[in-house]
Amino acid sequence: MPSTGQGASAHDWWRTAAIYEVYVRSFADGNGDGVGDLAGVRARLPYLAELGIDAIWFAPWYPSPMADAGYDVADYRAIEPLFGSLAEAEKLITEAHDLGIRIIIDVVPNHGSDQQPWFARALAAPPGSAERSRYHFRPGRGPGGELPPNDWTSMFGGPAWTRTPSAEPTAGPSAGERADGAPGEWYLHLFTPGQPDFNWAHPDVRAEFASVLRFWFDRGVDGLRIDSAALLAKDPGLADLGATPTPGSSAPVGTAPASAVAPAGAAGEPDGPHPFIDRDEVHEIYQEWRRIADSYRGDRVLIGEVWLPDAQRLARYLLPDELHSVFNFDFLCCAWDAAALRGVIDTTLDAHDRVGATPTWVLSNHDVVRHVTRYGRADTAFSMTDRQIGEPSDLALGTRRARAAALLTFSLPGGVYLYQGDELGLPEVEDLPEELLQDPMWERSGHTNRGRDGCRVPLPWSGDAAPFGYGPEGSSPWLPQPAEWKNLTAEAQSGDPGSMLSLYRRALRLRRAEPGLGTAGLAWLPSPDGVLCFRRGEGPAAVTVIVNLSAEPVDLPPHGEILLSSGPVSGSLLPPDTAAWLR
Ligand code: NOJ
Repeated sequence: MPSTGQGASAHDWWRTAAIYEVYVRSFADGNGDGVGDLAGVRARLPYLAELGIDAIWFAPWYPSPMADAGYDVADYRAIEPLFGSLAEAEKLITEAHDLGIRIIIDVVPNHGSDQQPWFARALAAPPGSAERSRYHFRPGRGPGGELPPNDWTSMFGGPAWTRTPSAEPTAGPSAGERADGAPGEWYLHLFTPGQPDFNWAHPDVRAEFASVLRFWFDRGVDGLRIDSAALLAKDPGLADLGATPTPGSSAPVGTAPASAVAPAGAAGEPDGPHPFIDRDEVHEIYQEWRRIADSYRGDRVLIGEVWLPDAQRLARYLLPDELHSVFNFDFLCCAWDAAALRGVIDTTLDAHDRVGATPTWVLSNHDVVRHVTRYGRADTAFSMTDRQIGEPSDLALGTRRARAAALLTFSLPGGVYLYQGDELGLPEVEDLPEELLQDPMWERSGHTNRGRDGCRVPLPWSGDAAPFGYGPEGSSPWLPQPAEWKNLTAEAQSGDPGSMLSLYRRALRLRRAEPGLGTAGLAWLPSPDGVLCFRRGEGPAAVTVIVNLSAEPVDLPPHGEILLSSGPVSGSLLPPDTAAWLR
């Protein structure tokens, strides 16, 4: 049976869960074709159980032409053949449950793939047809319709519209690229041309996704991570954005830091609703999804990928009849700075408190620069629009801070998300040869943004040379692993009490065992500048957490014992960039 975090019931397990993101193609390759797969994950389930996680979140595992690494789904009820089969996924769900691990899968409702049967039918049907109305097809502007229908730009760069060929249309990966100036309609894609946006005002789209949700809940899936959750509803008139900077033109929404995003006017703001971000209509969709989730014993969860600058707007997704939780991107993007982090923690707690929701805490995922690298840079904040690739990073410093950040993250009230490889302290791989880059950001930014491949390099498991146990000896991982990763393999770290892996294992175990680190609240304690110090829980079970982000050692507060520290503590002084849990 799946486990339950400290202080939470089986029903609301997600309130304290540690959820581990598996990016399948880079986790472990069972069949040696260079691409990770479900066989690889199944073989490593005991590793994940030992790590002490409560649930796995799978990045999309569906059949996909991989225009955006699986976020272009061709069939929502099957498994990508490179990864395995539906039967194997079902076995995996059972095996994980037997080990006490719940399963969350990605659902991608804003857009599908241009290889989906619906889209093929839409291309084959004439303008104005019922088939086309499941997407956003429009005639172009200009005398020959040669200009896109509006001024929206794609999150990855370039226009958000692709013109369809005029005659004998066929679906295919190149459908978008065959735009030739002939008088065809245009279709909307907020991401790549291979990811046409669905028209969520169409009842077929709603019915289809309701059925997809049931399909996976019926197979025992415990939750859904909802991709680009704030983008589904579009202005019916598809109004121009105009000159006002918006997330669509200045930063990729769905992949951009909330703090870097300033919508032209989120719904309800004086400027009026944004044409595609956070429109009020989106909430009805999640209310329906919540009813579906609740019809399954009430322990199935909906987790939104919602990037919004306004904590109160964000909280609307967390009302009791909508999503259970959302990712905390402000925490992820925040600089390694005590005052800034305290601000984010307070805003998060306050916004969630108002709606009775539980916060989440996230340091990395498959879209962002790994935090070991971020924290070793002069500018430690994260921004999707400036990934600072090539900026020097002191990886020893970044690693020390990442260790402290792990203890901070795991001691905050709520759920936590780990990205595969966080527990190994992997840095971003910044020197991948350009010809190997696969992220569409690279092409679509005109080679100005190397994109996200550097955080997606296959994991090192064992041995002293590639493929480091990721795949069978002699196999070639889909992206090359750095030779230095021989020191970071799970095997190398397992027996080393000072390793990142040992720290994660101990921290996750303690987090589960300590009542103070469960559902209890947080009370700030007085501390010098540059230091975060707070108490979790009351009485003898209370845990005091201190994180020194300053450049000088600081005195530990009065305590009986050190439960865990992220680095050596000499006497009663906590060194810089170190955290400790005290009783
Ligand atoms: C957010 C996902 O995390 C990202 O990887 C993807 O490119 C976009 N949504 C589009 O689906």
